[in-house]
This record gives sequence, structure tokens and C-alpha cells, in this order.
Amino acid sequence: MKKVLVAGGAGFLGSHLCDRLLNRTDIEKLVVVDNLWTGREANISHIRDPRFQFVRSDVENLQTSDKFDEVYHLASPASPPWYMKEPKRTISANLIGAFRLLDLLKKGGRFCFTSSSEVYGDPLVSPQPESYKGQVDCTGPRSSYDESKRCTESLLFEMQRTQGLDVKIVRPFNVYGPRTRPDDGRAVSNFVAQALTGRPITVFGDGLQSRSWGYVDDIIDGFARYFWMNETDYRGPLNVGNDREIAVLEVAQYISRLMGGIPIVFEPSPPHDPTNRRPDLTNANYVMPEWSCAISYEEGVAKTLDWFRQDMKITAAEVAEAGSRRLAKAGR
Ligand SMILES: NC(=O)c1ccc[n+]([C@@H]2O[C@H](COP(=O)([O-])OP(=O)(O)OC[C@H]3O[C@@H](n4cnc5c(N)ncnc54)[C@H](O)[C@@H]3O)[C@@H](O)[C@H]2O)c1
Repeated sequence: MKKVLVAGGAGFLGSHLCDRLLNRTDIEKLVVVDNLWTGREANISHIRDPRFQFVRSDVENLQTSDKFDEVYHLASPASPPWYMKEPKRTISANLIGAFRLLDLLKKGGRFCFTSSSEVYGDPLVSPQPESYKGQVDCTGPRSSYDESKRCTESLLFEMQRTQGLDVKIVRPFNVYGPRTRPDDGRAVSNFVAQALTGRPITVFGDGLQSRSWGYVDDIIDGFARYFWMNETDYRGPLNVGNDREIAVLEVAQYISRLMGGIPIVFEPSPPHDPTNRRPDLTNANYVMPEWSCAISYEEGVAKTLDWFRQDMKITAAEVAEAGSRRLAKAGR
């Protein structure tokens, strides 16, 4: 029976990963360490499993006498406005967090890390294969995130090379879905939260920049398959994402339509916003041929909208009222 530690388990992806882990019968204890910086206790409050334990702490300072068979390091904000506001804290969570978690891994245990497609920076090739070295600016405003992911990858791959550490590293592309914060600050959650509160949908730039949005269930399915795989000759890292590239404006227009024609307004792009992002899934298809992103963005966005409506406790009547207020203000 295994002891498992999930750092960042009260966050968006971490909480979904915990749900999957608790379906396993070979786990006797699942500890989540999270400081609730960008995560929410509500993301894990549904868990009633006696094997589950939540410790509110910075991962860097986690105090425990336990050692773990599997460690999952997800502790880091994923949303640019959050990590750009606190770069030192972001670097610490990823890198110093990894050092602390390595101390807590049993000999022969497995270390799983969520890196990011941000390691490719503003890419000059599309789609991006894992072998692409990326176009990252270590003096730029996103560097705390991009470079700490790169450095943590370097730490773990070097431990794999020199000490035979069992390492599994994924590079997720843009993920969306239930349990994202309404104030997360990324496109889909922004659009949905704005639409539900009757505000115009804000698109940065001309909206023609594209992203490859993966619905959370598909992405967590990819994580689980790869993280729990014992027999593979692929040493990583592994792109996990949806390879259907969609313009930001198209998603905004779709949400606007779903919500009865919410207006779309344009604002200047944030600094160093990548123009495109799309995973090359050749390795993912080789390692886990039966996996793919099955949920279309239309279906995923509709599910996300429903979840936000419940989470924000917004009734259909309130949405309609906000819409009428907006129309009245616009003089229509
Ligand atoms: N969501 C995405 O689209 C995406 C894409 C690529 C990579 N990732 C990576 O996946 C991981 C999870 O992302 P997410 O979307 O769930 O983000 P999230 O912000 O919802 O979750 C991160 C969690 O880590 C916690 N945390 C941050 N610093 C901590 C620290 N020092 N000590 C303890 N807990 C800490 C936060 O409170 C939060 O609960 C991150 O490592 C992120 O970089 C996410």
C-alpha cells in the first residue's frame, strides 16, 4: 500500500488529480499540502475519504515525518496575473518546493511534476514538439514561471540521469474547466465570469492569438495514464494537451452566443502574450495510444459555464437581470 503526497492539491488541476488518486485501491494515505495561495479549500471539501489529509502549509516548509512512494508537484500558480505579481514566490514554489519534496520521497519512489507549455515561450515552430528548445526571455515579465519550470525540469532530469530517479514530467497546454477561480485571470474563466455577471467579455489584442484548450477531464486522464505507467521506454517530458488550435476571439464569441449576445470589448494585450500554442502529440500518441482529448471546446465550455453558474451561485434570473441592466445602460 502506498503513501502519496500532492503539493498544490487544493488547486484546479491538483484537486481533480486527487479525485482520480482516491479511486485507486493501492493507496493507504493521500496527503495534500497547499498554502491556498491560488487554490481553494472548496475544491477539496467534497472529499470524505478517511485516507485523505489536508495540510495547509507552504510546500517549501512542509513538516512531516512521513516518506512517500509517489510525490506529485503541482504547487505553483498557473495564471499569468497571479505569478507575475509574485515572481519570487513563484520561483520558490516550483524550485525550492521540488527540493523539499525530493527529501520526502522514499528511495525508489516516483516524482511527478507538472511543468508547462510555457517552457516553449513565444514559439517559432508550430506545433511544439518536446524537443523544441523554446523562445523564453529570462529577463521578461513571465520568466519567474517559465524559467522556474525549466530549472525544475533540469533538476529532475539531472537526478534521473545521475541517480536513476523515477521521474515523470508533463508539459500541460492550456487547461480549463470546473474549479478554476472566477478571478483566475485566464481567457475562458474570465469570459465565463464576465458573461455570468452581465459584464462585457474582454478580449486582449485582436483575439486572433490562438490557444489549444484542453478540458480538465481529458487532461487529468492523460496525467493519470502517464504518471501511473510503469513500463515505458520514453523518459519524458510529455506534452499533454488538445491539439485543436482555436482563436481566443472564437471562444469569446461562442460564450457570448451561449449567454444571449453579451458584447465583446477589446483591450491591449498583456506583455509577452504568446501568439500561438499547440502541442505536437507524437510522443503522447506513442506513449499512450488510447488517449486523446475527446471533449470538444463547445461541450467543455458549456460544462464550465454550468459549473461557474453554480459556484458563483448565479441564478438564471440574475443572469437575465444583469443582461437587461446592460441593455438599459446601452440605451436599447
Ligand atoms: N491550468 C493550466 O492550464 C496549466 C497549464 C500548464 C501547467 N500547469 C501547471 O499545473 C499545476 C497546477 O495548475 P493549476 O491550474 O491547478 O493552478 P492552481 O493555481 O489552481 O493550483 C496551484 C496550487 O498550488 C498551491 N500553491 C502555490 N504555491 C504553493 C506553495 N508554495 N506551497 C503550497 N501550495 C502552493 C496553490 O494554492 C494552488 O492550490 C501548476 O504547477 C501549473 O504550473 C497548469
